[in-house]
Amino acid sequence: MSETKKSEWNSTFAFMMAMIGSAVGLGNIWRFPNVLYSNGGGSFMIPYIVSLFLLGISFVLVEYAIGFKFKKSLAQILYFIKEKLEPVAWFVLLIVFLITTYYVCVVGWDLIYIVLSITKAWGTNPDLFFTNNVLHSTSSISGLFTIVPVVLASVFVIWFIAWFILKRDLNDGIGRVSKILLPLLCIIVVGIVIFSLTLPGASIGYTQIFTPDWSALTNSNVWLAAFGQIVFSLSLGMAIALTYASYLPKGSKLVDSALVVAFSNSGFEVFNSIGIFSILGFMALSSGIPFNELVTEGSGLAFVVFPQVFNIMGPSAHIVGPLFFLCILFAGITSVIALLEGVCYSISEKFLIDRKKTATAVCIVGFLISSIFATGAGSMILGVFDAFLNNFALLFAILLECIIFGWIYDFDELIKTLNENSKIQVGKLWKIVIKFILPLCIFFLWAQGAYSTITSADSVSITIMIILTVVLIVVPIIFAKLPARNKHFFDM
Ligand code: PHE
Repeated sequence: MSETKKSEWNSTFAFMMAMIGSAVGLGNIWRFPNVLYSNGGGSFMIPYIVSLFLLGISFVLVEYAIGFKFKKSLAQILYFIKEKLEPVAWFVLLIVFLITTYYVCVVGWDLIYIVLSITKAWGTNPDLFFTNNVLHSTSSISGLFTIVPVVLASVFVIWFIAWFILKRDLNDGIGRVSKILLPLLCIIVVGIVIFSLTLPGASIGYTQIFTPDWSALTNSNVWLAAFGQIVFSLSLGMAIALTYASYLPKGSKLVDSALVVAFSNSGFEVFNSIGIFSILGFMALSSGIPFNELVTEGSGLAFVVFPQVFNIMGPSAHIVGPLFFLCILFAGITSVIALLEGVCYSISEKFLIDRKKTATAVCIVGFLISSIFATGAGSMILGVFDAFLNNFALLFAILLECIIFGWIYDFDELIKTLNENSKIQVGKLWKIVIKFILPLCIFFLWAQGAYSTITSADSVSITIMIILTVVLIVVPIIFAKLPARNKHFFDM
């Protein structure tokens, strides 16, 4: 990708699949069911839909409009808006990159589980198996010096796959892979949901989704949870939509496609959770464990509760198990490449390095950082990275983006760009949301996240967070200060 050759999607379908693929990820499969359950079940759909429309889609539209209008990388766009803002771009991209380093590791665990699930090799105690036999987890930081070879190898495989896709031309790599993986993912999920509905006890699970607890609606934490889920699920503020939209050809319909992407992503997570809840209902009936003890999130759900379920399920688990983990793999890979594309784009534009070399460098550095998570202390450090980067740093970055695009940049320009390129029109309400409501909501979410991250941290976590903070301040400044090799980097 050089100053003379600008990538462009060869079809709207490729763009849509890549966009939906970027949004549909681990968050949809293992985060949403838990958030839904712990925040009032059916009634949660009200704050969820309000957040989706008012905040989620509004911010995606900002990213679309900016990306489409400038057709440049985030670093160049922020430089153009105000020279001094370039470090903010590198700050956002560094957060995204660091998130990817541990996200890849979770996808790596999933890869291991695809193999394990064929024979249900986790035995009768999947919980112990996960911590002792897969992760070789140690409770202290000294585990940092013991590499876990299987995890390291699977992390390497995922980085290799990411590199293999990213180094190719946009349509040949990301476009083609998204067009294959996303439909496959949908077919498998439909199959699993239909199967799960036939399980005894399924109704114990899925009725939870449709049983509303109306009192939850007056709880402000429920609204924040809904908003937090939308931020995570739509991958807001990570420069993904912005980067992908910058590759759109003239004449593309912006608002219309943003709506399709947002609805598909939410439709996917709601539909998928019917399957997850039905399977948990089956587990509750078969094992006598109360339903509420089964609904967990994160690695607990995928690598502990689901293996327990597959143990009870009988022979069909030998097929459903690998398919379930395959879903996570497909959803994970499309998100990983989306996270990395924006990072690679800014680097290759500024330093005039071609696509292949940039992808190689980014993936090698990424793999080296990820190998920290393939040690005995890996899952502990991963937890700290996740809490700090997702609940704290990323929200802060989105807040900065809201201020930059809503206040520093001429917002009316964005309204014009969108309305010129869409059937559906936006207006004053959108402006009010981006300038006032969104920053306020993000601020509350950030304050809540910051509070819970700091109060629950022990001394090792605090040390890791301090190191991350220093890295997040120093590296972006260095990247912004490094001279651009692209002589057109500063032109618009
Ligand atoms: N939205 C995607 C998901 O739900 C991608 C994502 C990756 C979001 C990392 C946040 C962090 O998994």
